[in-house]
Amino acid sequence: MERTLAILKPDCVAAKKMGKVLDRIEAAGFHIIGMKMTRLTPEVAGKFYEVHIERGFYKDLVSFMSSGPVVVLALEKENAVAEFRKLIGATDPAEAAAGTIRRDFATSKQNNIVHGSDSPENGRHEVAFYFSRQELIEAR
Ligand code: RTP
Ligand code: MG
Repeated sequence: MERTLAILKPDCVAAKKMGKVLDRIEAAGFHIIGMKMTRLTPEVAGKFYEVHIERGFYKDLVSFMSSGPVVVLALEKENAVAEFRKLIGATDPAEAAAGTIRRDFATSKQNNIVHGSDSPENGRHEVAFYFSRQELIEAR
C-alpha cells in the first residue's frame, strides 16, 4: 500500500465542498488513515510548498493556503500517488479531464480545491510532515 497526502484547500472548505470531495475520495477506494482540520500559518504553508519558492506564484500560494481552514488527509491505496493525481486532474481546472475533482469544483489555477503529493517519496514525506505516527490509523 502506498501513501499520499491530500489537502482540502481553503477554497474547498469555504465553499462547503468538503463532503462532496471526501465522497469522491472514498468512492475511488482510498483509505483515510489520518484526517485533521487545521489552519496553516504562512510559515507552515511556506515550508510545505518551499519547492516552489522561486516561482512567481509562490507568495500568492502561501497567502491562499493560509487564508482559512484546511482539511489534511493521509490516504492509502495501491498506487495511491498516481491514482490520486488522476482523480483530482491537472493543476489548472481548465485543463483538467472531465469528471475530475478540479474540473468539477475548482475556480482557478490557484484556487484548485485540493492538493495531492507528486511522488511516492514525497507522499511519505508529506504524511510525516503533518501527522505523527500516533495520529495515523494502522493500515488495513
Ligand atoms: P498541488 O501541489 O497543490 O497538488 O498542485 P500541483 O502539484 O497540481 O501543482 P504545483 O505545480 O505543485 O503548484 C502548487 C499549487 O500552486 C498554485 N499554483 N498557482 N497561478 C499559477 O500559475 C499557479 N500555479 C500553481 C496552485 O494552487 C497549485 O496547486
Ligand atoms: Mg504539487
